[in-house]
Amino acid sequence: MSNRKTVAVLGNGTVGIALAKGFAKIGYDIVFGTRDVAGEKTRKAVESVPGARAASYAEAAKQATIAVTALPWDGAAKALALLDPADLNGKLVIDPINPIDFSTGSPRLAIGHTDSAGELVQRLLPGARVVKAFNIITAAHMVHPKLPDGTPDMLIAGNDDAAKAEVADILRQFGWRTPIDMGDITASRLLEPVAMTWISYAFRNQHWTHGFSLLGRKQ
Ligand SMILES: NC(=O)c1ccc[n+]([C@@H]2O[C@H](COP(=O)([O-])OP(=O)(O)OC[C@H]3O[C@@H](n4cnc5c(N)ncnc54)[C@H](OP(=O)(O)O)[C@@H]3O)[C@@H](O)[C@H]2O)c1
Repeated sequence: MSNRKTVAVLGNGTVGIALAKGFAKIGYDIVFGTRDVAGEKTRKAVESVPGARAASYAEAAKQATIAVTALPWDGAAKALALLDPADLNGKLVIDPINPIDFSTGSPRLAIGHTDSAGELVQRLLPGARVVKAFNIITAAHMVHPKLPDGTPDMLIAGNDDAAKAEVADILRQFGWRTPIDMGDITASRLLEPVAMTWISYAFRNQHWTHGFSLLGRKQ
């Protein structure tokens, strides 16, 4: 029996795999939560991350020390309904979800100003310690981001200071500077439009490798 901590990566898409690889490299066990444990996509995800395994969302949540909601905006609530929220009580849940509506072919924020994906995740998992993070960078640069102009900054938000300190520690191990704490989970309303800015710049310029940095930040 392993004493290592387990990260339940809920979703085995681009973000799930990128973060799973990062966590595996710093010594965590990975269990992918999925709707299709025996599927080809899941097999490929598991094979791409050393030591990873797959389970249903419900089973992954039970096994988690930490969970990551690597889920699409329009499928997040349904996927989280497949697990028992109580299994994530007291646990750190890292939320990278951006509430992007792709239905018109031109991406736009589906919600904003008065609500956010971060708050939705916290409402659906009321006992979890949800921290919004990783949503303002592309999956390829979530771990050890290396951009021509230097290391970008990560903005985070969440209600629990200890959970945010844990995320800051993970980010440092992933090669980031100390993240910028923007406040409680309602600050996701600020972080998610930052991602929309990232996406808009990407589409306008057909360029996918940029990131943000706050110059002159408080030391
Ligand atoms: N891609 C990026 O670079 C990036 C960067 C920052 C933030 N984000 C955000 O991170 C989240 C995940 O992005 P991603 O690019 O990893 O997404 P993705 O490649 O589409 O993967 C999403 C995963 O969610 C699971 N899922 C559960 N319910 C679903 C449903 N109803 N429809 C579709 N998939 C469902 C799927 O796994 P199963 O089918 O196995 O359940 C799938 O592998 C999104 O909210 C996105 O906005 C993405």
